[in-house]
Amino acid sequence: FKGLLAATALTTGLLGAAVTAQAAPMVIKFSHVVAENTPKGLGAQHFAACSEKKLPGKVKVEVYPNSQLFNDEKVMEVMLLGDVQFAAPSLSKFQSYNPAMQVFDLPFLFDDLAAVDRFQRSDAGQGLLKSMQDKGVLGLAYWHNGMKQLSANKPLMTPADAKGLKFRIQASDVLSAQFDAISAAAIKKPFSEVFTLLQTKAVDGTENPWSNTYSQKFFEVQSDITETDHGVLDYLVVTSAEWWNDLPDDIRQGLSGCMDEATKVANEEALKIALADRQKIIDSGVSKVHALTPDQRAAWRDAMKPVWQKFEGVVGKDLLASAAKANA
Ligand code: LMR
Repeated sequence: FKGLLAATALTTGLLGAAVTAQAAPMVIKFSHVVAENTPKGLGAQHFAACSEKKLPGKVKVEVYPNSQLFNDEKVMEVMLLGDVQFAAPSLSKFQSYNPAMQVFDLPFLFDDLAAVDRFQRSDAGQGLLKSMQDKGVLGLAYWHNGMKQLSANKPLMTPADAKGLKFRIQASDVLSAQFDAISAAAIKKPFSEVFTLLQTKAVDGTENPWSNTYSQKFFEVQSDITETDHGVLDYLVVTSAEWWNDLPDDIRQGLSGCMDEATKVANEEALKIALADRQKIIDSGVSKVHALTPDQRAAWRDAMKPVWQKFEGVVGKDLLASAAKANA
């Protein structure tokens, strides 16, 4: 009888465990490198909250900001291994997955964020989302951050002011060529190291949009920021194509709807955050913000534009033309 009781208890226990296992929500990890109070940070949080609301008990979405889990140099690799499910690296970080993605880095190609947005929504822009599936990567959405500014410990008013300086850049050959074009040196380093590189003067300057310059406190270790708006730093939200396609239909649809919502949030907030963070930097008085006259800006454009020709073959003439056409 004791034996029977024990067996019953064991069976009930096992059944209980099975029921619990079945009911456990699917854990989904979203890893990124910026602060929470940025367009990407807000987008990721919205995606998590929306998904858990839309798919109650079915998914648990954990967001890891600030390179807490992985930096961009590692995240794509681990995503394909299944260690994280979502990431949103900057568009500058996809050259080894599709060289044509380098179109986004070409200096002075887009007049402003509205032009970037038009290109991303065009057939050519949408085509890029799905262009890396042969490498296992599926792009789900573009998220804005903003146009980039140049910073250093001196005012950079003309390209000659940057000559001989060393800049931290993202891992992008176009960005490397961009600094080459103005006789400056560029070193590719992970985002999480930028503050220390600037603080210790291992590099002289960098380029980033206002929200990164503010939220990572780069402005506290750079005396001057020049409003060059010379390029864009936006994101591609990516997942593993295999993981995504194998999801149960209801979960994929729920996540997809929340991705659309989160995209709206990130993209509506981006310009507002850029303007607000720019103002906070000016108000801090810690770093001087320099505007350029149209002639000064034209000089930067003339100095950097030869980079287009260098990458035209890699990016493709048609794609470059479609991007340029997005300027109204
Ligand atoms: C950088 O490395 O500077 C950016 O890609 C960081 C980011 O995600 O905005």
